[in-house]
Order: sequence, then C-alpha cells, then structure tokens
Amino acid sequence: MERPLERRAATRTAVVWEACRRRLEQAGPDQTVLDIGGGTGGFAVRVAELGHRVTVVDPSPDALAALDRRAREHDVAGRVTGLQGDLAGVSELVPARAADLVLCHGVLGLVDDPGGALDVLGGLLRPGGALSLLVGQHHAAVLGRAMAGHFSQARDLLSATEATASETVAGADHERRFTADEVRGLLAASGFSLAEIHAVRVFTDLVPSALLDLEPGAVDGLLELERAVADRPEYLTLAAQVHALATR
Ligand SMILES: C[S@@+](CC[C@H](N)C(=O)[O-])C[C@H]1O[C@@H](n2cnc3c(N)ncnc32)[C@H](O)[C@@H]1O
Repeated sequence: MERPLERRAATRTAVVWEACRRRLEQAGPDQTVLDIGGGTGGFAVRVAELGHRVTVVDPSPDALAALDRRAREHDVAGRVTGLQGDLAGVSELVPARAADLVLCHGVLGLVDDPGGALDVLGGLLRPGGALSLLVGQHHAAVLGRAMAGHFSQARDLLSATEATASETVAGADHERRFTADEVRGLLAASGFSLAEIHAVRVFTDLVPSALLDLEPGAVDGLLELERAVADRPEYLTLAAQVHALATR
C-alpha cells in the first residue's frame, strides 16, 4: 500500500504517467524508451517495470548513481541503462530513429534553444514513435508568484508579451516556461503532430499540504479532480505544467 507521501506525490505525476502508460500499452510489449534528463529514474524505473527497455541520458553523475540504485532496488537493472550526457549531444550517444517513445520531462525549459532541442528529439524517434513532452506553464507561474507574495516578480512575468512570455524573469528560478500555444507552435515547427495535450498540476500546487493531511480522502479527491480537468483546454492556462504527446 502506498504511503501518504507517495500518494501526495502521485497527484503531481498521475496525469503524465497515465498518458505515457496508455501510449506504451497501445504500442505493444518490449518498447525502446529514451528518457532525456530522466534524473534519478522516477519515470524510467516505472517504465522498465512494465517490461520495456529504458535508456536515461542525464548530465548529473549523482542522478545517474541514484537511478542505478533505484533500478536495482526494483529488480529492473537489466532493462535500465544510464548514460551521462545532455540533450544537445544525445545523438552521439544513442542511435538515430530507433526509439518508440522519447520522454523529455522538465528539461526543455533548461536548454538555450528549445526549437533546436525538439529537432534533436525528433531525430531519435523511429517513424510513428512518440514524444512525451512536459514543460512548466507560463500563466501558472504568474499565479504562483503572487500566491507566494512575490508580487513584483508576478508583475514582471505578467507584463512579458506573448513573444517573450517564456523568458526567464530576473529573481525567479532559471527554468523557462511556455504557454500551451507556444508548445503547439514549437512542436509543429519541428514537424511533430500533436496527439494529446494535458493540463497538469492545476490544483495540486495551490492546495496547502496541511489541508491534505487533515482531511481523510483529500489526496484521492484531489487526484480525481486533476484527472477530471487534464483534458479540458480551458484549464491549460491554470496548469503548472503542460504535457504533450506528439508523433513524427
Ligand atoms: C527538473 S529535473 C527533471 C527530472 C525528470 N525528468 C523528472 O521529470 O522528474 C531536470 C533534469 O534534467 C537534467 N538536465 C539539466 N540540463 C540538461 C540538459 N541540457 N540535457 C539533458 N538533461 C538535463 C538534470 O540533471 C535533471 O536530472
């Protein structure tokens, strides 16, 4: 049975995990999966537990060591490979056009050239393969800054024009965020066809954790709510993250 902390963490990842799992189920057994910037393997190990082969590419040796430990603890070390490297150089580490599914979660906002990065990711996919892209969403960042009392940071983000909406704002963290329209535009420019787009963490980041601890069943209720709005486009502007599944 999941512990309370794990169940709360599930409210942050459930929508993305369930979309990836559906895609893997539709595509069949023994898929080849690449997780670019996969970190300590929170997703990669779960994918390997479904019977697929996963290669994680990440620049952090510490993350790769944790990935290795996690894979061994879950008895999937034989299906998980960690490679040290970054998105820009990934084509030199893994074969071109060989992956059934490429995960790029929480990484596009860290690179200098998101459009170029999507071109690289597209080159890793076999024909008909899919990209799972997860990015921070611009408008929720404005709300988040305001809710935390950082009103001038919220104003700086708010007054960014659509063209500069994804620019890093001074004093904030260094992750670039995107609007859902920017995600659609970037994917189209790199030759992807959008299959699904999801609103992720619409409520989870706004609900005080004390409330979840106090109220029995609150975590399950929150999870159901997140699932209920994930496919509703009107919630994309409120979502902390946007998740896209796209093929090429
Ligand atoms: C926010 S974490 C996301 C980890 C994981 N994908 C997840 O969703 O939980 C960002 C990860 O990207 C890695 N990273 C940072 N810059 C990168 C780059 N240029 N190329 C590939 N990975 C990068 C970091 O080491 C870190 O593990």
